[in-house]
Amino acid sequence: MNPSRLMKALAALAFGIVALAPAQAQNYPTRPIVLVVPFAAGGPTDVVARTLAQAMSKDLGQSVVVENTAGAGGTIAANRVARANPDGYTILIHHNGMASSVGLYRKLSFDPLKDFEYISQVADVPMTLLAKKSMPANNLNELIAYIKANKEKVNLAHAGLGAVSQLCGMLFQKAIGVDITTVPYKGTAPAMTDLLGGQVDILCDQTTQTIPHINAGSVKLYGVTTDKRISALPNAPTLNEAGLKGFQMVVWHGVYAPKGTPKAVQDRLTASVQTALKDADVKRRIAELGSDIVPPEKQTQEGLRTWLKAEIDKWVPLIKAAGQYAD
Ligand code: MLT
Repeated sequence: MNPSRLMKALAALAFGIVALAPAQAQNYPTRPIVLVVPFAAGGPTDVVARTLAQAMSKDLGQSVVVENTAGAGGTIAANRVARANPDGYTILIHHNGMASSVGLYRKLSFDPLKDFEYISQVADVPMTLLAKKSMPANNLNELIAYIKANKEKVNLAHAGLGAVSQLCGMLFQKAIGVDITTVPYKGTAPAMTDLLGGQVDILCDQTTQTIPHINAGSVKLYGVTTDKRISALPNAPTLNEAGLKGFQMVVWHGVYAPKGTPKAVQDRLTASVQTALKDADVKRRIAELGSDIVPPEKQTQEGLRTWLKAEIDKWVPLIKAAGQYAD
């Protein structure tokens, strides 16, 4: 081919590629979307993800398929999505662990503030401090006394460094001034199975998993981690009111896409999350699990990005001061 025909062919090819990108974004989605969950199936993050995915599938006209990529406190899943093709077909749902991982992992393989596009926040979820049913303590003071008297044998389950169950358990141990053995799992779903079976003693876990077990009377509940009592568990004291002054923790969730995802695709995903959060079934399910859909200003790309940044600024110095590292 002579040079001028070659130049024209290359120019046409380049134009075709440039013209194709927005067209593909406009038609998005044309196939199923994978929503990566960083913890085990059946657990609290999985429950939020599947509730959201079902409503988003209706809105997008394509299946949003949940995939559980558990391990390393959620960092394996975040890394997977950071490295995924930025085409809107692999996205992530994650919680506070997206921020705390920056302090916990000195060799983090992704940067939460650089490697993602921020789609929307989703829901805020309280935590509950639980013990196995056979625990002799009937209230928080009795539990603290029991732990102090039996610190060599009591253990606490969690979902790995970066999991909120681990953070809550660590704050609880610091608040009562006792270190106990911790048992890591790939999510609090398997941790809950062992709590129900009596193989582990204590678990601090989200209401999105714990409310059915609390209502069935199959675990002991000592309090909720929110600043006020929650309507789904009106008789449960806050941990603050039960004696752990200032103890407060709420689990927030965000949806992320890999950096470089076309803006039109990001906007379609954000609109779909917003539509899903107005869905009557989603509202009912989130409320019955003691949780709150976030207000409209948090259901935005900027609402997630600024929140994540603020959480990193808040938690990383505290984690570093505690000298708690995962690697
Ligand atoms: C889970 O889904 O298993 C939890 O969100 C893990 C945790 O962070 O405690």
